[in-house]
Formats: sequence, C-alpha cells, structure tokens
Amino acid sequence: MKIPILGTGLSGLVGSRIMELLGDTFEFTDLSFATGIDITNSEQVVESFQNSSASIVLHMAAKTDVDACEDDKIFGEEGPAWLVNVIGTQNIVEAAKKFNKRLVYISTDFVFDGTQDSYAEDDTVNPLNWYGYTKSEGEKLVKEAEIRFMIVRLSYPFRAYYKEKADFVRRIIEKAEKKEKLFALTDHIFTPTFIDDIASALDLILKKELQGVYHVVGGQSLTPHDAIHKILTKFGLATDVESVTREVFFKNRAFRPRNLALKNDKITKLGIKMKSFDEGLSEIEKQIHNKLI
Ligand SMILES: NC(=O)c1ccc[n+]([C@@H]2O[C@H](COP(=O)([O-])OP(=O)(O)OC[C@H]3O[C@@H](n4cnc5c(N)ncnc54)[C@H](OP(=O)(O)O)[C@@H]3O)[C@@H](O)[C@H]2O)c1
Repeated sequence: MKIPILGTGLSGLVGSRIMELLGDTFEFTDLSFATGIDITNSEQVVESFQNSSASIVLHMAAKTDVDACEDDKIFGEEGPAWLVNVIGTQNIVEAAKKFNKRLVYISTDFVFDGTQDSYAEDDTVNPLNWYGYTKSEGEKLVKEAEIRFMIVRLSYPFRAYYKEKADFVRRIIEKAEKKEKLFALTDHIFTPTFIDDIASALDLILKKELQGVYHVVGGQSLTPHDAIHKILTKFGLATDVESVTREVFFKNRAFRPRNLALKNDKITKLGIKMKSFDEGLSEIEKQIHNKLI
C-alpha cells in the first residue's frame, strides 16, 4: 500500500520530479492553486489537513525567485514573499501541530551568509537577502513549534527537463544553443544538486522517523565558471564565455552569499549518495539522450 503524503509545492521544479520518481511508493496529495488551496489561507490549510489521513507533510511551496523576493522587501510582512514563505509556513506548521503530523520543511542554502569555507547543518544562519530571510524565518517557525520535524536544505537543483521553469543548467544549454554569450562568475562558489538524488534522499527521509536539519545537496562545490565549462563540454556546445566577477554579475540584483559550499556528511552517513556535478550532468545528458524523462 502506498504511504499517503500531504504535500505543498509539488507542481514546482523539484516537487514535480519527486512525484514522478516516488509516485509508486507514496500517494501524494498536493495543496496548491491547481487543487484550490492557497497556503496563505489558514482556513483552507486546516480544512485540507482535517480531511487527510496522511501522517507526513512535505512542505515545499515557496516564492523562490530571489530577485522578485528582493523586490517584495519594501512591502515587508504585507509582501508576497513574506506571505507565502513565512505566513504560508506558519499555517502549515500550526496545522501539522493541530493534527499531529510530522513535517518535512524544504529550505535553502540561502539561509547562510557565504562567508565561511563551508557550511554544516548546525552552522549559524545569517541570510543576506529577503528570500533567504523569509526561508530562515520559516525554519525558525518549524523548529520552535514543538512538532516532529525535519528541515531539508537544498541548493541549486537541476534536472533533465521541466518546461515550466528552467534551472541554471537548462538556461546555460539554451543560451549556448542559440550561440548567446555566457557570463561566467569566477569568484563565487555554489553546490548544484541533481534533483533525482533529492528524490532518492526524500524516499528514505519520508519513510524514516528522522528529526532535525539535513543538507540534501550535491557532492561537489564549484564556481559557476567551472560549471559552465563542464556543461558546454558535456553537451558538445560552443559559445563565447566571458569571465566576470560578482560585482558585475549581480549589479542591481539581490545580494547573493559568496561561498555556498554546503556539507552533506549527515545524509552520506545514512547511506545516501549524492552525485557530483559531473555525475549529475552525465545522468541528465543520458536521460535527455534516451528520452527517459
Ligand atoms: N529552485 C531553487 O534554486 C531552490 C534552491 C534551494 C531551495 N529551494 C527550495 O525548494 C523548494 C521548491 O523549490 P522549486 O524551485 O521547486 O519551486 P518552484 O518551481 O518555484 O515552485 C513553487 C511551488 O510553490 C507553489 N506555491 C507558491 N505559492 C503558493 C501558495 N500561496 N499556495 C500554494 N502553493 C504555492 C507553486 O504552486 P503553483 O504551481 O500552483 O503556483 C509551486 O508548486 C522551495 O521551498 C525552495 O525554497 C529551491
């Protein structure tokens, strides 16, 4: 029998692939606009929790566009980023508490300030932009609620194909195919994560009674400059690539943490293997080639 899961954000970049890959094991119920639920509306959330037999909630819904979230900052607690990421999470947390459901909250590497060499789960959060701040406020609500919870931080997720929203790998491929010039950041570190690995990790996480904070991130941290060259090589593409610094690249955009090398030792110890960026690229290249998506 499939395990029932009450989910949010399951129509998104990450969530839709989770449903595709884990649909044989779990019976997902998505609380989304498509199913008539706005998570900022507490009554709608409570009603859907009341009607659900699921004992686990996977909360992924968020306003995720970092620059658009920054534009919301002037609206403070009235703005969409706060309403979805904080009030929406508060509604989910309160309903999880009321109906005694275990909560898995999906968070982000952007809760960190990027000044350390690397980040483990227990390191202090210090978000630098509004998106990161709203997500870290969400983490705080989850931690303080006295419920069974897990916080799962993700970082730069990518997959073979998702037509609704292009991840960074897809954006680079599409630009290179059109022979557009690429700007490659040299003084910035990130940790790309293959979404199929997130699904495998969640498979275990949702089944086990784990508690606490976990980094479900890729096994390799690198500069966007190096990532771009790896993508071009893997997909046999050629276009102009100009090296740029953060100062130029992020001008007039939300401030981004400089070094987001997240450690994933905690999940590795559980037997979960997260692919390196090279391995993830090989896998999506294979999936695209074989149309296995
Ligand atoms: N993408 C990244 O680079 C990244 C990196 C680190 C962590 N994360 C985290 O991973 C999670 C998933 O990210 P993603 O990129 O897959 O998201 P996404 O593609 O931007 O999708 C956002 C999801 O949230 C739902 N949603 C937004 N507002 C809602 C509301 N008021 N009520 C109900 N549902 C609402 C959307 O539903 P509709 O389709 O119905 O609009 C959609 O399913 C997020 O929590 C994000 O913070 C993402």
